[in-house]
Amino acid sequence: MNIVSAEFVRSITELNRCPDGGRPEVALAGRSNVGKSSLLNCLVNRRNLARTSNTPGRTRTINFYLINKRFYLVDLPGYGYARVPEKVRLNWGPLIEGYLSHRPELRGVVQIVDLRHPPTAQDVQLYQWLKHHHLPAVVVATKADKLSRSQGLQQLQVVRQTLGLVEEDRLIKFSARTREGRDELWRVIEDWVG
Ligand code: GTP
Ligand code: MG
Repeated sequence: MNIVSAEFVRSITELNRCPDGGRPEVALAGRSNVGKSSLLNCLVNRRNLARTSNTPGRTRTINFYLINKRFYLVDLPGYGYARVPEKVRLNWGPLIEGYLSHRPELRGVVQIVDLRHPPTAQDVQLYQWLKHHHLPAVVVATKADKLSRSQGLQQLQVVRQTLGLVEEDRLIKFSARTREGRDELWRVIEDWVG
């Protein structure tokens, strides 16, 4: 994908604040601090378009980024991080679930997990949920640069097994640092956004 433009459009905490429809959307979902915003920046060749941080729970809103004036990449808040104010936390589940279940523009979901660790119970739950709702999904196992090649391949099997992926389910080994997996992920996204 040739990135001509990538612009932040808006952050929302309520579903009725989504941008006007009509353009396809691809969402990035995953546990807090897993590397969603870094993956988005890597995809669009920008260092700081989406804010990244060592502090888990940085992205608390749904953030829309318009790519090539044609489709949106949608950065979802991370799940599974407890140390945020109760009021904020309570709003996440329904917000994410509401977006994933009621957004007609949504063409597919990039579910991001950490290659170094087995997927969490919530990762498994999300993947099963996506399947159940027939939402096209690709699993991206990120931070591959932190493992050796053989460890990485081994962990890929752990991810496959824990999430219960079948043969035809797509799983991509990725690193925002080395850009491994970037082209492969773009091919999936391009396919979704037409
Ligand atoms: P929240 O918005 O808090 O849910 O986090 P996030 O999922 O958007 O994660 P973010 O992109 O902010 O990254 C979290 C931390 O992981 C940052 O310190 C990143 O630099 C680091 N990180 C993300 N991707 C990679 C990667 O591929 N390799 C390495 N080595 N570090 C990464
Ligand atoms: Mg983020």
